[in-house]
Amino acid sequence: MPDVIATYRFRPEKGTSPEEAARWIAEEETTGTWTGIGTTADYVRRLDGEVMEIVPGDGFCLAKIRYPAEIFEPGNVAQYLSVVAGNLFGLRRLASVRLLDMDFPDSLVPFGGPRFGIRGIRAFVGTTNRPHVGTIIKPKVGLTPADTAEVAYQAATGGVDLIKDDETLTDQAFCPMRERVPRVMKALGRVKEETGRQVLYAVNITTRPDRIVEKAEEAISLGANMVMVDVIIAGFGALQALGEAPGVTVPIHVHRAMHAAMTRNREHGIAFRPFARLVRWLGGDQLHTGTVSGKMSHDAPEVLGDNRVLTGPCFGKKRTFPVSSGGLHPGKVFAELETLGTDVVLQAGGGIHGHPDGTAAGAMAMRQAVDAFMEGIPLAEYAKQHYELERALKLWGIG
Ligand code: 3PG
Ligand code: 3PG
Ligand code: MG
Repeated sequence: MPDVIATYRFRPEKGTSPEEAARWIAEEETTGTWTGIGTTADYVRRLDGEVMEIVPGDGFCLAKIRYPAEIFEPGNVAQYLSVVAGNLFGLRRLASVRLLDMDFPDSLVPFGGPRFGIRGIRAFVGTTNRPHVGTIIKPKVGLTPADTAEVAYQAATGGVDLIKDDETLTDQAFCPMRERVPRVMKALGRVKEETGRQVLYAVNITTRPDRIVEKAEEAISLGANMVMVDVIIAGFGALQALGEAPGVTVPIHVHRAMHAAMTRNREHGIAFRPFARLVRWLGGDQLHTGTVSGKMSHDAPEVLGDNRVLTGPCFGKKRTFPVSSGGLHPGKVFAELETLGTDVVLQAGGGIHGHPDGTAAGAMAMRQAVDAFMEGIPLAEYAKQHYELERALKLWGIG
């Protein structure tokens, strides 16, 4: 049976060789501990981890470690993480260590993947190849349900394909879900009547894992046509529950707030790639993977690689739509699309609602920037004929 291979970048503690440090990882995460033990029966040895390769570098080393497949309980993602991303981060023999990627065999990926995927979402919205444009209702908290619906209406009229709650808005008293969702959906119904366009609304149903399916079903019964989960905070088990629940009949938008606590330090922690793999396996139809020009720290090759994990071959699973979000505005659209391609959702909160002429004009400006890219016309030139775009570029500039 093929095994699991995990790749780490690490720096050994002074006095520890790279080989020794890597062996500590392999032993800690399989059959060993810090000293020899008398309870290791011979038959246990088949479960030993193995350091397959060590590549020394600029003070850091890369190691590939093989974990026997038998160690893993098929379908239990929490247990998978306890091996590839468990105790090893605290080992004293390693000054720092970062899990870069993981390769699992088919037998350990018995998950259904996205139910809709890029194609299903495009079919719903009615697009073939252009990037989607989304917005986050801003301010992220505080608006009443009626005002939230009005902002959604303006954004949808202006041309966005997707509206979403922000990561900190769930079901607080100032904007309860049972009032917010019907109002927003009614506003989107009006947009459909007026323009024929079908717009998605991702309702943030993040909550404790044992209640999340119920919460999603409630949102759907109120009219939601998409649900959203903060996956790092709620846990991968929560996403898995949503992905497998027969009652969750709408696409799942996955936000990643808190990921940077693990992903941002390039010397220690977990790169985003393993998380991107898990989200696709477990049923995320859309996933934030960051921007290449926005407000959060970013590394373009890494974002691109993460997006490829979502859209490349993966045990026959549907493709997850990568979402680029955080500090975008029309002047950044070309930078994003030139690097990330057009199978991407570009989301702007401030970059739409901060437009000098309001939300609808902001949404139009984002769509115009996307149209300019698709038509191969430079942004500044396109703006000469498109007032909303011109106004946005004047305020925020290009790039
Ligand atoms: C936000 O909530 O501002 C963004 O989604 C953060 O972007 P990230 O994908 O880089 O976390
Ligand atoms: C998100 O959740 O993706 C963000 O809130 C993005 O917001 P911004 O476009 O205003 O940075
Ligand atoms: Mg946000």
